[in-house]
Amino acid sequence: MKYSVKNGKDLAADCIVAVVYAKGGLSAGAKAADAAWGGAAKKVIALGDFSGKAGEVLLLHGSHGAEGSRPPKRLLLAGAGNPKKFDAKAYTKMLQGAFKALLKSRAASVHFDFQDLSLKDRDGGWLSERLALEAERAVYRYEETKSSKKKPHALKSISLAPPEGESSSKAAGTSTKAAGAALKHLRQGAVIGKAVNRARQLGNLPGNICTPNYLAAQARKLAGRYDSLSVKVLGEQQMSRLGMGSLLSVGAGSAQESKLIVLHYRSGKGGGKGKDGSGKAKDGSKPYAIVGKGITFDTGGISLKPGAAMDEMKFDMCGAASVIATMGGVAELKLPVDVVGVVAAAENMPGSRATKPGDIVTSMSGKTIEILNTDAEGRLVLCDALTYTERFKPRTVIDIATLTGAAAATFGPHATALLSNDRDLADTLLEKGRHSLDRAWELPLWDEYQSQLDSNFADFANIGGRRAGTITAACFLSRFTDKFKWAHLDIAGSAWRSGPGKGATGRPVGLLLEYLRTRKA
Ligand code: BES
Ligand code: MN
Ligand code: ZN
Repeated sequence: MKYSVKNGKDLAADCIVAVVYAKGGLSAGAKAADAAWGGAAKKVIALGDFSGKAGEVLLLHGSHGAEGSRPPKRLLLAGAGNPKKFDAKAYTKMLQGAFKALLKSRAASVHFDFQDLSLKDRDGGWLSERLALEAERAVYRYEETKSSKKKPHALKSISLAPPEGESSSKAAGTSTKAAGAALKHLRQGAVIGKAVNRARQLGNLPGNICTPNYLAAQARKLAGRYDSLSVKVLGEQQMSRLGMGSLLSVGAGSAQESKLIVLHYRSGKGGGKGKDGSGKAKDGSKPYAIVGKGITFDTGGISLKPGAAMDEMKFDMCGAASVIATMGGVAELKLPVDVVGVVAAAENMPGSRATKPGDIVTSMSGKTIEILNTDAEGRLVLCDALTYTERFKPRTVIDIATLTGAAAATFGPHATALLSNDRDLADTLLEKGRHSLDRAWELPLWDEYQSQLDSNFADFANIGGRRAGTITAACFLSRFTDKFKWAHLDIAGSAWRSGPGKGATGRPVGLLLEYLRTRKA
């Protein structure tokens, strides 16, 4: 998608978007557009065919303009709801409705006149950024494994008359500066939207294509595109030498080799890529770390899952997808802080070599684990990935995992579960989730839950009984996080949608990028 900034009207566009509030109140931009259209919007509203509730759309065709004024071929009315309650959510709903309608049309260019728009709870920069973010999200389609592809979307370019807020932003002052700020925000929104789409694409791919090796290849490809990004992939032999008995136990029944994938972004202050390939950060460039669960298919292993909806366990690598996609976004945005992304990739299968209930493994940390259920495999790969991450001396560590069905049962699709050993980090992530509309909600990580993991035969067990499943899973991970500030994001409910619109959401890439881009060098 091409983005540009234009002041005022752009009557050359194939479509103009007119923002209409509830009860038919036209925004200033909409009034101007409607004037060129001979008042068509006002007429439709007067007839009662358009009410302006948030997300409502109506596409008007044909030329209604005064002779010689050459108005655009299409006018799209986009409902914004009650003007007094026009906030980030209503605005986003409006954009989603608008893009859905635009993409059904054959309009190649569209103009958004948002000069008089302002949100109750966000500045003009956020508003511009969100426009591009929603545009990118809307154009995503999964077609990789379809033999007949749909006709491509016609939409190629978006222009924006930026909101007032852009000119009051610090970088601004004159209107050219405001235009520059708006363009920057559009570009950043597009980067975030594309990162979200990359995570969706990896998530949507089937388990027979998206294997641990495929994830490694994608990480290598990504690193090849940026000097600031380096990659390292450990195979089973290397992991075995490091003592990762827990991670390796998960892939034992699979023909696919398990992989530990490490992406390292260096902001430039600490030196470029390559150096020694050890992945060790230089002093003074302590990285932020993100660690993803990458089970490319989760059958449950010997503790086999029931058949219903088991196909959805191809999404069990959505944590890994969010890490890879976020690292791409970090490099593209050229963030001033260093970031390490670690992916623990394996396929959980039954088989003659598979791990059995009752088996005891030794993790990289030296702690022994009694595997009472081979379907609680996410924590088994993550614990070794977390121990591995210690070597980077990270400022904070966030793991992202489709870890427990209980998180989906608790929150449904709307919230990611958050558990943390650090108050500040938890609060920051909750705030970034609200800001990016990619929200998390906290569950307690109290000591009282820890005893559910007691084992008679090993240091502890990998399951904690029927109750408080999301919390006891986090309790398990917490035993490998003493050396750093850590937060756990359980995305079992938020990472994909079931039903007719089945597909990966790309969450929590929005939250992660919002967190990382607001860190100070
Ligand atoms: N990948 C699943 C979690 C999951 C299940 C996410 C369904 C979304 C929908 C995970 O590996 C798993 O199987 N967890 C078990 C843990 C249990 C055995 C303690 C679960 O949640 O049932
Ligand atoms: Mn499982
Ligand atoms: Zn799993």
